[in-house]
Formats: sequence, structure tokens, C-alpha cells
Amino acid sequence: MFSLEKIVRPNIQQLKGYSSARDEFKGIAEVYLDANENPFGILNRYPDPQQIAIKERLSEIKEVDTNQIFIGNGSDEVIDLAFRIFCNPGKDKALTFTPSYGMYSVSAAINDVELIELALTEDFQIDENTLDSYFEDEKLKLIFICSPNNPTGNCFKDETIEFILSKFKGIVIIDEAYIDFSTKESFISELKNYPNLIVSQTFSKAWGLASVRVGTAYASQEIIDLYNKVKPPYNVSTLNQEAVLNKLDNLAQFEIEKNIILNEKEKLEKQLQKVGLVKKRYPSEANFILIEVTNANELYNLLVDQKIITRNRNNLVSNCIRITIGSEKENKKLIEALQQLSVTSSEIENSL
Ligand SMILES: Cc1ncc(COP(=O)(O)O)c(C=O)c1O
Repeated sequence: MFSLEKIVRPNIQQLKGYSSARDEFKGIAEVYLDANENPFGILNRYPDPQQIAIKERLSEIKEVDTNQIFIGNGSDEVIDLAFRIFCNPGKDKALTFTPSYGMYSVSAAINDVELIELALTEDFQIDENTLDSYFEDEKLKLIFICSPNNPTGNCFKDETIEFILSKFKGIVIIDEAYIDFSTKESFISELKNYPNLIVSQTFSKAWGLASVRVGTAYASQEIIDLYNKVKPPYNVSTLNQEAVLNKLDNLAQFEIEKNIILNEKEKLEKQLQKVGLVKKRYPSEANFILIEVTNANELYNLLVDQKIITRNRNNLVSNCIRITIGSEKENKKLIEALQQLSVTSSEIENSL
């Protein structure tokens, strides 16, 4: 049986979080002399520490209670706070599947938490058979599942995720940073079935607000209360909250932009198929494509020479490069560069 009390760090369980002036008074007053702000200007007041307006809007869109939503300074904050809430530094462990998003290991290291990294199968799925012994480990507090997975682009099987959610007595964080691009449903609808589930999403990808740094976590009210207790009081600025609210007020535009990106992805996939340098293209449920080439380091540098920056993932998946879907113009530039480089490399081969 999952017990939140057994999983939370005792000092966090006992912590009385900081209560800001704006936490204690709710409503509209005439005179604010409570927070040592400057009375002049337009950005002189602290932001809403609970980001109520965003939560109310998200609650309608995602069909969850406002008290089941946490708003973070990017979903990187959701990841970092999970370590701080659940893992005793130097004692506890977390687990993830590799290759995956790099911040799990960086955050683990910052928090002095051992990260177990289990290799995905050849088709980038989780091997359920390798997990049993880890479920028994009382020091293991967190399992990160990135689906769609960065950098491979695929989603994991629902049955596998449900298997982990039901067997593991710690917290399972499903990182859905790319879910808006995917054909799969979010696991948010499963929150009622799994008290150990945290679903993390972000405004940085499909919502087009990477510079705004806003990420979200959806979980039980008890878990969200812990997040609110541990976060810095004013973790999302007023400007950033307004940027998110503007986006949430224009869902039609969000759909249009997302569909343009998905169409561009389809086009790019077809074009990559015809580029001689590309040995393999992995299927993607996200806004990027992982390709395998003969020499990723070399190709990466040749593209840099043409001022085109891709993500060299050679250290994670041998000779693979991750390409983000850009605008039509950007994608065209990439394809032209790849075609040109393919011609040059086959000319060199033929002359040998
Ligand atoms: C899988 C995954 N999770 C989280 C993040 C971080 O997103 P944010 O900008 O919300 O911090 C990224 C960013 O690339 C990502 O790829």
C-alpha cells in the first residue's frame, strides 16, 4: 500500500512553509503596506504566490481540481522539488530509464541522491522484467518516466506505466513535456486511481512559452500541498503569469500552431527518408526527430559550420542527432544542408 507519510522526508513533513503577505490576505484591498514594496511603478507589487488565475483556467482545461495543480518555474522546478520533498540527501535513491532527459541526473546529483539508470530495450521501451528487485528497495523514493521520451521521441506502453504505478510504493513522475504533440492521452486522467502519481507538463514546448519558464505538476492535493510548502514564495513572476493567461485565452491559436508544427514534422520525416546521410529515422510522438547517421560528431560540426544547431546525442544513443521541428524556412534550410552534405560525402566515397 502506498503511504505518502512514509515517502516524504521527515523534515519536509514537519516543515511550516513560509507564509507571505499575499498568502494571508486574499481579496482586493485599498492600501497595501504589508510587503515592503515600493508604491510607485507598474511592476512594483509581488506576484500572486498561488497563481490562482492560471490554476482556475487549467482546472477547466485539464478537468482537475485547482488544489491538484502546482505551477513551477519551468518543469525543471517540478523535478528538483520532487528530490527535495521525497529524497533524503546521501541516503535515498531515484530511478530512471536511459537514454532520457538529462536533468533527472543533474537534479539527483545536486540533491546528493543516487540515480539508478536502467537501459531501455532496443526499441526504446521499458523492460518490466528488470524492475521487481527495485520495487522492494525502501530507499528508492522516485521513478521518473519521460513519455514521450526525450531524446528517443517514443511513448512508453500504457500497460508498462500502469504496472509501475501499481507495483511501486514510492512516487512515479510521468514527465509529459511533449504530450501535446502526441497521439496518446495524458495520465492526468489516472490521478484518481494512483495516489503516488505526479504528472509534469510544461508551457515551454507546444505552448510556445519557453522563455516564460512555467511548468505544471498535477497530483493528489496532499502531494501538491507539499510542493507549495517547499517552493520559493514568489516562484512565478507577474509578467510570466500574464503570458500564460494570454495563451490560455487563445486555445484556437494554440491548436493552429501545434498543427503547423505537426505538419512540418510529417514533411521533414518524408524528406529525411530521402537524405543519403540518414541511416535511420526513429518514429516520434514529440516535436523532434532522432536520426542515426554514420558519424554524428562530424555531421553536427558540419551543420554548425552552416550556422545550423542540432542536438548531438552521440553520447546517449550512438551516432544519433536530435532535430527539433522548426519553422518551414528553418526546416528547409536544414534539409538543403543535409542534401548538400550527402552529395559531398558520396562524391568523396566514389573518388576513393
Ligand atoms: C522531457 C523534458 N522535461 C522537462 C523539460 C524542461 O522543461 P521546462 O522548460 O518546463 O523546464 C524538458 C526540456 O527540454 C524536457 O525535454
